[in-house]
Amino acid sequence: MNARIEELTKKINHYNQRYYQDAVSEVSDYDFDKLLAELITLENQYPQFKQADSPTQRVGGGITKSFDTIQHRYPMLSLSNTYNEQEILDWDERIRKTLGEESYEFVCEIKFDGISLSMTYENSILKQALTRGDGTKGDDITNNVKTIRTLPLSINNYQLSITNDSKNTHHSFEVRGEGFMPITSFNRLNQEREEMGENLLANPRNAASGAFKMQDSAEVAKRGLDCYVYQFLSEDDIFETHEQSLIAIKQAGFQVSDSWRKVKTIEEVIAYIKEWEQKRHTLPCATDGIVIKINNYKQREELGFTSKSPRWAIAYKYKAESKSTLLKSVTFQVGRTGAVTPVAELEPIELAQTMVKRATLHNADEIERLGLCLGDYVFVEKAGEIIPKITGVDENRRQTTDDRQQILFIENCPACGTLLVRKEGEAAYYCTNEKDCPPQVKGKIEHFIQRKAMNIDSLGEGKLELLFDKGLVKNIADLYDLKYEQLLGLEKTTIDEAGKERKTSFKEKTVQNILEGIEKSKEQPFSKVLFSIGIRFVGETTAEKLAAYFKNMDTLLQADFEALRQVPDVGEKVAQSFIAFFAESENIEILNRLKAVGLQFEASGLVVEQESNNLEGKTFLYTGTFSNFTREELEAKIEANGGKLLSGVSKKLNFLIVGDGAGPSKLQKAEQLGVKMINEEEFSQMVN
Ligand code: IVH
Repeated sequence: MNARIEELTKKINHYNQRYYQDAVSEVSDYDFDKLLAELITLENQYPQFKQADSPTQRVGGGITKSFDTIQHRYPMLSLSNTYNEQEILDWDERIRKTLGEESYEFVCEIKFDGISLSMTYENSILKQALTRGDGTKGDDITNNVKTIRTLPLSINNYQLSITNDSKNTHHSFEVRGEGFMPITSFNRLNQEREEMGENLLANPRNAASGAFKMQDSAEVAKRGLDCYVYQFLSEDDIFETHEQSLIAIKQAGFQVSDSWRKVKTIEEVIAYIKEWEQKRHTLPCATDGIVIKINNYKQREELGFTSKSPRWAIAYKYKAESKSTLLKSVTFQVGRTGAVTPVAELEPIELAQTMVKRATLHNADEIERLGLCLGDYVFVEKAGEIIPKITGVDENRRQTTDDRQQILFIENCPACGTLLVRKEGEAAYYCTNEKDCPPQVKGKIEHFIQRKAMNIDSLGEGKLELLFDKGLVKNIADLYDLKYEQLLGLEKTTIDEAGKERKTSFKEKTVQNILEGIEKSKEQPFSKVLFSIGIRFVGETTAEKLAAYFKNMDTLLQADFEALRQVPDVGEKVAQSFIAFFAESENIEILNRLKAVGLQFEASGLVVEQESNNLEGKTFLYTGTFSNFTREELEAKIEANGGKLLSGVSKKLNFLIVGDGAGPSKLQKAEQLGVKMINEEEFSQMVN
């Protein structure tokens, strides 16, 4: 059987490669599926013979509960960005200064807009695929990346060589590229979601990044992810130029986009940029600019790196596409906090490959600032090609005054009719009917179930909406009273684009998932519970600080204004909001119900045992997030080794521990005061 499994593996991999790399079908779909089915059956019977590059991995099946974080062999840096021609010319000038008289060449490439991936091949087999993470460590998403059909699971011997010399072959190496969701897959996925009445995904990049991080690789396989490879790395230098490496990796079976071009002058670089500004929309992947790289590796070495990016490459970012369209009407949305947001309803227009029908106008001041009237033509832009934004009125298409109608900001809540109020110092109008205004109540439950809160994923995608509309869930505590019988067979009707009614109903599996998700949320730590219950101004970090300080809900409930102000980062506004929240008997009632069903009302109690005196006399503060520690753990570590945690950057601070997404104001202040900044590894070294 081993031989048959080997044969099938080879055959199917070959057909796959011919199909995806060379666009040649050597076998009918029917025969291909038959071979694959045979292989799946045999592998199930004889798992010991499954090949490391088995194509059955493409359909997924492996579940990853949580992704391991793994050190990159070579750090994954980012590129510095430029936005105009002059900045490109300046970069060229800097290169010329360093390289002197030598001539140099550029390779221009498209900047694909997905997530960067790094793939390690050992003995010609794809062993590991990591996300960029913080650049030094990334998440191991190998199972999910293996579902990409254009990415070889193994490469044939001697494919990656530039000569025929067998010593010059490379079995162990790394390739890097951009993982993406093709625009067609993205549109299909969103169409399906629309039909199911589910929330739409914002753009292909978000969709890809979500898909690559799914736990079930069989689900990932259905998302049709893809990857363009743009870099080859190995211990020894087998290529002299980037051009050679691109040609070789393409030959070895990797998907290299044909859009790259080698050029000799900066003028040709600029011509490439201009040419692709239009043409980029014909590519299957979302793009946000151009990457320009020095071709010769020796010259790259000479140019070197700054702390964040190579000097030998630069990105040119295209300006967001802007088009004008008719402002048909303005509708008003009520959020979780009661803030009312005006939304522009537009004549649909295609921007960066998606149809834009609506855009937020933020608040009444923004409407005034833009000088908008109904009937105006407005410029719409996609900020970072994500959220559509109105940037101004297209004066050239302005209507006669008769056709323009002033936009009147509503006086009453569009959902419950309550008179709106404008709070002092705030731009938004609010509906104060917190307890009964449907979008506010629903918003609070949505906040509660979101991933970074109680993480009840199984209620996403419109399911909560149905429970809410059916009156089964009126507040967050009701979620824990839901019964199997109540949910099974619940029907949802949506209207599709053609105006047709579609009915979907909750099947057994869906109901089971929902209830399991709710049950699992009971394990979420106290800090998450505190964040989830939706006290205004209490974000994730504040909730963590409060949980760490007060340790349990009972102590927290007894804290007065002064006690709350003792907690690092808790200001007047937060303390007041806290007190107001707990003064409401209804909130207390809900908390009691949550406690009764078993939510965590106590911090897991990282008991701080003294480990060493290594940090004795030293003060610390941290900013951002870390790969090896949660904030709680980091605080405990500082304490356990004799250090002291400060609540802000001041002259008294000795060390600022800087993590991913560090706060710029803290960094700036630390720099001004000459506070030493260290990363997580340096901190660990100090401890040990
Ligand atoms: S080369 C030192 N080439 O852009 C970094 N990157 O801002 C070398 N990207 O993280 C990267 N298309 O995810 C390179 N043709 C391309 C690219 C590309 C997209 C992304 C990549 C990287 C980011 C840098």
